[in-house]
Amino acid sequence: MATIHDIGQAQRAHSPAAVLAIGTANPVTSMLQDEYADYYFRVTKSEHLTGLKDKLNRICNKSGIKKRFMHVNEQLLTAHPDLIDRALPTLDARIDMASAAVPELAASAAAKAIAEWGRPATDITHLIFSTYSGAKAPSADLRLATLLGLRPTVCRTILNLNGCSGGGRALQLAKEIAENNRGARVLVACSELTLVAFYGAQDASLDTIVGQGLFGDGAGVAIVGADPVVVERPLFEMAFATQTTIPGTEDAISMQLSTGGLDFHLSSQVPKLLGNNIERVLVDAFQSLGVVDVNAAAPWNDLFYAVHPGGRAILDLIEQVLGLDAEKLAPSRQVLSEFGNMSGATVIFVLDELRRRRAEAEEVPEWGVVMAFGPGITVETMVLHAASSLKENGLAS
Ligand code: CAA
Repeated sequence: MATIHDIGQAQRAHSPAAVLAIGTANPVTSMLQDEYADYYFRVTKSEHLTGLKDKLNRICNKSGIKKRFMHVNEQLLTAHPDLIDRALPTLDARIDMASAAVPELAASAAAKAIAEWGRPATDITHLIFSTYSGAKAPSADLRLATLLGLRPTVCRTILNLNGCSGGGRALQLAKEIAENNRGARVLVACSELTLVAFYGAQDASLDTIVGQGLFGDGAGVAIVGADPVVVERPLFEMAFATQTTIPGTEDAISMQLSTGGLDFHLSSQVPKLLGNNIERVLVDAFQSLGVVDVNAAAPWNDLFYAVHPGGRAILDLIEQVLGLDAEKLAPSRQVLSEFGNMSGATVIFVLDELRRRRAEAEEVPEWGVVMAFGPGITVETMVLHAASSLKENGLAS
C-alpha cells in the first residue's frame, strides 16, 4: 500500500526546472525614440504644452532607447479619438481592445516558443499569464489557451498588475510547478500593451511624460519543465528563487485602474532605491548556494545577468554599485534600446538576447541571475545555471 510520502515523492521531478524554449513578439507599428515627442504631442493634440514636450524630448534623449513597438498607432487613435483624453471614461473600450490584442500578441510569441521546444502544444500542462492589462474574467489566459489549442485540463493562472516584476514572478511560479509536478510543462506568457495607459499629457502629471518616454509593447513566452526528454534542449536551469520587498517603498512604483485608463506613478528615487538594495538582495540569494564567494573583493563579475531594464539610470546604478564590466548588462541595454521597457515581458526578451550572445561567445560564466523589479518595490531574483546544451545545440538563432 502506498504511503502519503510515496504519493508525494512520486509527484516530484528528479531534476531542477529549466527554461526549455523562448519566443517573443511585438506589434507591427514601431516608433523611433528621437521622433517620439513630436509624434506624441501631435497625435494627442497637445502641442501647446511646449514645456512638457521639451521634457519628453530630454527624457527620450537620455533613455537609452532607440525604438519601441506600439499597438496604439495613428489609425487606432483616428478610430478611438477619446483615448487621448484622460478625463473621458474610456476604460471599457480599452479593456475590450486589450482583451483581444493582449492574448493575440502572446499567441504569436508562444507559437515561436512551441516551435523551438519541438513538442505539440497539447503537451503543455500549465499556463501562467502575466499582464497589467487584465480587468475581466475569463481572462487572457483562457483566450491564449484557446488560441494555442491547449488541452482542456491545462491548469491556468493569471497574474494581474504585477507590473515589471510580473515576468520574474511568473518564471518563479513555473519553477515551483515544474519541480512539484513530475512531467509538467509550464508555458509562461507575459504580454504587455500600453493601450490601457496611453493618453495625452496632463500639465500636473510628470508620470505620464516619464511613462511615455520609456514604455513599449511586447510579449515574451518561456516554456519551463524539469527532467527534459530527448527532443528538449534546456537553456537555463533554475537553481534558486526568491522575492524581496524593499521596506518603505510602497509608494515608489504604483499602478491603478481608473475610468480614464491605467494611471501609474514612478518616483524619481526608483534608480537610487534599487541601487542601494541590489547587492544585499544578491548576497541573500547567493550566500547559501556556494557557487560565488559573496565575501570576495569583486564577486559579481563571475555571473551572467538578465536584469529588467526598467530605465537606463537603473542599469547605470546597478552596474556601478556591483562594479560590473560593461558587457555584463549588455543584453539588458540591447533590449532597452531595441524595444524600450515592456514591463513584465522585458525580462524574457533579455533571456532571449542573453542565450543568443552566450551561444556565440568563447567563454561564458556558468552561473547567473534574473532580476526583475516592480511595484512594492518588489525584486524578483532567480539564480540560473547555464545548461551545456545551449552551446552544443547551436541555439544561436
Ligand atoms: N518622474 C518625473 N520626472 C522624472 C523622473 C520621474 N521618475 N525621472 C526623471 N525625471 C525627469 C528629470 O527631473 C528631468 O527633468 P528636467 O529635464 O526637466 O530636469 C528629466 O526627467 C531627465 O532626467 P535627468 O536629466 O536626470 O536624466 P536621467 O539620466 O535621469 O534620465 C531617465 C532620465 C531615462 C527617465 C532615467 O532617470 C531613468 O532611467 N529612470 C528610471 C525610470 C524608472 O523608474 N523605471 C522603472 C520603471 S518601473 C518598472 O520598470 C516596473 C513597473 O512595474 C512599471
